[in-house]
Amino acid sequence: MCGIVGYVGTKDAVPIVMEGLRRLEYRGYDSAGVAVAVDGHLELRRAEGKLGNLDRVIAERPASGTLGIGHTRWATHGRPSETNAHPHLDCDGVTAVIHNGIVENYRELKDDLIARKHRFGSETDTEVIVHLVEEELRAGRDLAEAARRALRRIEGAAAVVLVSASDPKTIVAARISNAGGVIVGYGDGENFVASDMPALLEHTRTFSFLDHGEMVVVRPDLVRFMDLDGKEIVKAKTTVAFDVVSAAKGGYKHFMLKEIFEQPRAISDALLARVDRRTSRVIFDEDVKMTEADARAVTRISIVACGTSYHAGIAGKYLIERLAGIPTDVELASEYRYREPAIVPGQVTLALTQSGETVDTLAAMEEAQRRGARLVWIGNVVGSQASRMAADVIYLHAGPEIAVAASKTYTATVVCLLLYALFLAQRRGKIDEATSRGILAGAFHLPTLVDGALQSSEQVRTLAYRYYAARDFLHLGRGVNYATALEGALKLKELSYAHAEGTAGGEMKHGTNALIDENLPVIAIAPRDGVYRKMLSNIEEVRARAGIVIAVATAGDAEIRDKADEVITIPACHELVSPVVAIVPLQLFAYHVADRRGCDVDQPRNLAKTVTVE
Ligand code: G6P
Repeated sequence: MCGIVGYVGTKDAVPIVMEGLRRLEYRGYDSAGVAVAVDGHLELRRAEGKLGNLDRVIAERPASGTLGIGHTRWATHGRPSETNAHPHLDCDGVTAVIHNGIVENYRELKDDLIARKHRFGSETDTEVIVHLVEEELRAGRDLAEAARRALRRIEGAAAVVLVSASDPKTIVAARISNAGGVIVGYGDGENFVASDMPALLEHTRTFSFLDHGEMVVVRPDLVRFMDLDGKEIVKAKTTVAFDVVSAAKGGYKHFMLKEIFEQPRAISDALLARVDRRTSRVIFDEDVKMTEADARAVTRISIVACGTSYHAGIAGKYLIERLAGIPTDVELASEYRYREPAIVPGQVTLALTQSGETVDTLAAMEEAQRRGARLVWIGNVVGSQASRMAADVIYLHAGPEIAVAASKTYTATVVCLLLYALFLAQRRGKIDEATSRGILAGAFHLPTLVDGALQSSEQVRTLAYRYYAARDFLHLGRGVNYATALEGALKLKELSYAHAEGTAGGEMKHGTNALIDENLPVIAIAPRDGVYRKMLSNIEEVRARAGIVIAVATAGDAEIRDKADEVITIPACHELVSPVVAIVPLQLFAYHVADRRGCDVDQPRNLAKTVTVE
């Protein structure tokens, strides 16, 4: 899940590559490096740690040229260090590689290359690629052909970019398997490659996307695609609307805070133009191919996802079963792919992945498709691999999310799940117009409700500063807000490194109660809904054991004030949209605890935004 940028044209590549890397730093940030072609050789600059360290190295030893590649790393093989940072060079320092993914057979390849007297400078799996290419170049092949032949020997998953000082006007990039996207950006007399669009939005909005088993030769005035058998292919160009401005911090201290505050907008964009206000019917655009007959034929929905998207899936199961009456299960994609999943005729596999590139989710999709399921994807990134695999695509339209921990893509995913549940319910004749109208009124009110929940930011900050030093936290929720409990706990773990656990209220008596004492803050999500009374009982149980109760409750709820130590209010809302509102104070709480603890909020240690390794 590393960030990749490459440039070939007439300008100095180094600032362009560095700026692109800065926009991708969320993908990996334990080391970084650039290679630039200068007078027949490659200049390499690398540094351990964040990109600022590489900036300093470049300032001390400047290099410039019109062909350059760069990489920010998230270590898999080989600890984070300068020597393990990409790019990696061949024995003669003529050819360089950057890579995202894992070369599974690198041990055999490396032993073989060492036996043939290749000298290795790093502990990485990546370096074998450049030595394999070196052998092909020595045999007189050009860079594209050398790369193609070398890459055919790689097992595993990889996005690879290669340059050689022997051909200083060419970048070769390839995608093997689903790990790591490769995009090509088109300029005028210059072209780009990258792992993600935000790296290039300053320069272009027109892109092509490599699929599994494809490669591309990029020159200033020419872009040529082929498969790994060497057969030329034609790729479509896509123009996107994301702009650079929305990818900048916009006055907020962190991207995380900016993105939390962008939720009203993201939610209204997710809803926009998807409902016929007259009939209250959900109408998706042409990316959703599912007809009424298809919807009626669905027998089961199996949701696959990871991390925050998995939590959205838990809310999704609740929404789909309640509205559309279709049996729905939710599974961690990383578990799904390693068993023998049973697929029934008429099954839909609904993949939730905001990036559309999480390798475990893509593998689960592949497996489900192979076994005959129809693939539906809900996610954010236009042109991602998931968007190209699925039969039906529902975009979040949330705009780029830069902070590693998800916020606006979570709420937008839950909103899209609500729309999809209504869509199915309506096509299957499971819901009448008045009920649809009531639920949609709740949904259309969401931007205002979330805005209302954001008003608690200062109060939440005060609470966060009061409890920031606690070692453990417990998040309790029931019904559709069980998802909120899980997601609230994950946010706190990711951002602040505090231990937090999300539990269904009814499960406390089966174990979690043993944890409660006077040091444990328990965040109880208790809006006025169908399980409100049950949540009150859970709060009593915590109080009886001297735990500290921080309740998230509906505004105006006087009863809960007697029972909880602290109360954060959210506006009253329809039960089915409540997870979208109730998560907001928990995102803010996690943010402020982390900020108070001095954590790196946008780039938490050991994490990365897009996980393209297993
Ligand atoms: C990473 C991120 C999480 C995210 C998960 C799934 O682990 O750090 O914030 O929830 O990937 O991402 P996806 O793009 O598949 O939704």
